[in-house]
Amino acid sequence: MGSPVTLSVIKADVGGYVGHSRVHPEMLAKAEELLQQQRGKLLIDSTVLVCGDDIDLVMTHERGNDHPAIHQLAWDTLTAAADIAHRLKMYGAGQDLQADAFSGNVKGMGPGVAEMTFIERPSEPILIFCADKCAPGAWNLPLYKMFADPMNSPGLVIDTKMNQGATFEVFDAVEGKSLKLNTPEEVYLLLTFIGSTGRYLIKNIYMRFCNDVAATGSVQRLKDVAGRYIGKDDPVLVVRGQAGFPALGEITEAFTLGHTTAGWMRGSHQGPLMPCSFDTARPVRFDGPPRVICAGFQLAHGKLLGPVDIFDNPAFDRTRARCNAVADYLRAHGVFEPHRLHPEEMEYTTLPEVQKQVAHRWESEDKLPSKVGAGVGGDFD
Ligand code: F6R
Ligand code: MG
Ligand code: MG
Repeated sequence: MGSPVTLSVIKADVGGYVGHSRVHPEMLAKAEELLQQQRGKLLIDSTVLVCGDDIDLVMTHERGNDHPAIHQLAWDTLTAAADIAHRLKMYGAGQDLQADAFSGNVKGMGPGVAEMTFIERPSEPILIFCADKCAPGAWNLPLYKMFADPMNSPGLVIDTKMNQGATFEVFDAVEGKSLKLNTPEEVYLLLTFIGSTGRYLIKNIYMRFCNDVAATGSVQRLKDVAGRYIGKDDPVLVVRGQAGFPALGEITEAFTLGHTTAGWMRGSHQGPLMPCSFDTARPVRFDGPPRVICAGFQLAHGKLLGPVDIFDNPAFDRTRARCNAVADYLRAHGVFEPHRLHPEEMEYTTLPEVQKQVAHRWESEDKLPSKVGAGVGGDFD
């Protein structure tokens, strides 16, 4: 058995080109360069992905999850890209870097993090999903489909390993605690939580036949770090595939609905999550619709062979067309729910500031004339 390898994906929006739609090539080149300098030192291998205005750093190494040196490298790399963004007057330069100095772990400092450590299998297919204009709860539905829904993943019925089920680790983003639930026997319980995508986030999934990690999503929420809306979380997700884990096609099938997610314009709207090629992951219509790219790799001795642009495929044309139709339909609601998010989510945006203007003009219902009449009627009690 070989020694464990760690796959770390650390991401942030440190400046948009143009507006919130893309990342300037100079920023990406700097990120690539800084990670490449560490190959053979801190890192085994690295690559830089981009989805919308987010830079996604992909690193393999042998130091395990949450290692300070790896997190420092990611922080320094994102800071260097932010410096370029400032110099070029990119939009929202440095936006997601919410601390003045690095303090051991980028979690809680703005960036999103998905890390997993495992022994590389004889062949190790890996899919990395990066999203923009979207919240981390967006992974709940596709992860449920991949790992617990036999109508999506026939391996759950047909394959002797997948058939043993999975363990879902669910993170309660409000209480800051986690719960492990086993499928298939606890699938209904699982759904009671993960259907609430704003609060319960799937953090890790383990295959029960081997107790090995199969999927890891970033669960950081920017509003919890900044205390206000500064941009949507735009999460990342890593999924290992094949040989008793969901097949590549079962993993991608889970994205064919074009399901809705919180995000889109001003992080305040529901919109369809559109699977896109690397080139078309530029959210421009109403700052969206929310996008997801899928980068495929074969991991070989820690080396990332790839990326293959998985969604650059006509098989996803119908999903994209549906997303456009759903976008039209939702947009027709203007500022009305359910296109606009419910009030709890809007609390973190700039909307309450606007509403404050008339705060003093609200009258208590007791003082309204109709209530006075009701009081008279009360004499019959
Ligand atoms: C979404 C996002 C954008 C901005 C919008 C307004 O995550 O970042 O939709 O919220 O473009 O941006 P400002 O207020 O910076 O002009
Ligand atoms: Mg942005
Ligand atoms: Mg973004």
